Amino acid sequence: MRVDVLYGVQQLTPQDVQGRVVAVVDVLRASTTIAVALANGAKSVVPFDSSEDAIMRSKQMERGSFRLAGERRMLKMEGFDLGNSPLEHTRDVVEGTSVLLATTNGTKALLAVQGARDVVVASYVNLTGVSTMLRSALRGGADIAIVCAGQERQFALEDAACAGRYVHNISRRLADIELNDAALAASLIDRKYGDNLMRLFTTAAHGRALAAAGFEGDLTACAAVDSFPVIPIYQDRMITKLGPERER
Ligand code: MLT
Repeated sequence: MRVDVLYGVQQLTPQDVQGRVVAVVDVLRASTTIAVALANGAKSVVPFDSSEDAIMRSKQMERGSFRLAGERRMLKMEGFDLGNSPLEHTRDVVEGTSVLLATTNGTKALLAVQGARDVVVASYVNLTGVSTMLRSALRGGADIAIVCAGQERQFALEDAACAGRYVHNISRRLADIELNDAALAASLIDRKYGDNLMRLFTTAAHGRALAAAGFEGDLTACAAVDSFPVIPIYQDRMITKLGPERER
């Protein structure tokens, strides 16, 4: 069995994800925000490639049944209900709604992994639950691909570190697991920062940009390991949480 880490969705080929269990990581901030929204009672999160697509979908939906959310250059877009800050996706705002989410990298990465057997959204806030799900898929014979969304077509340090933590959690003490070089590199980055996720985030370019834009609180929220222990599954063009109503 294999555990591969893949950096950047532009280079993805259908073979990279075909038939595999895929985890998509955009730890700052889309994958964290998706976990938070679902944990806070959103019925679903629907990822979009562009704000225009999200707006178009919202026009076909009943008023009050959705929240338009997302960012451009980190900021909420005009006319949208919410940005991409996990701190905005509180229970009183998202419960019972479908969050229509358009972000620069994270939602595009989700849309790029067509053909996977299963797609799960991974971050630090749901680390243990998602690791357990991936590890049991691996033990059941599935190959795993961890797709790092990156930042504006570039490698993102925080996604690599988070991917490395997943590689460690899901493959530790299992025999005959092959890792690609990107997974080995991700493991090294994870080991360098260890549990000091604030040091990781304040070193990474996107973390520094978020702090400079006034989103320091988001860094703390994104570093809160296991604070929103949901398993977000992307299927049939929407993300819902694994639970009694969606068993695997
Ligand atoms: C993205 O999807 O590009 C990010 O989550 C950007 C952000 O921090 O909002």
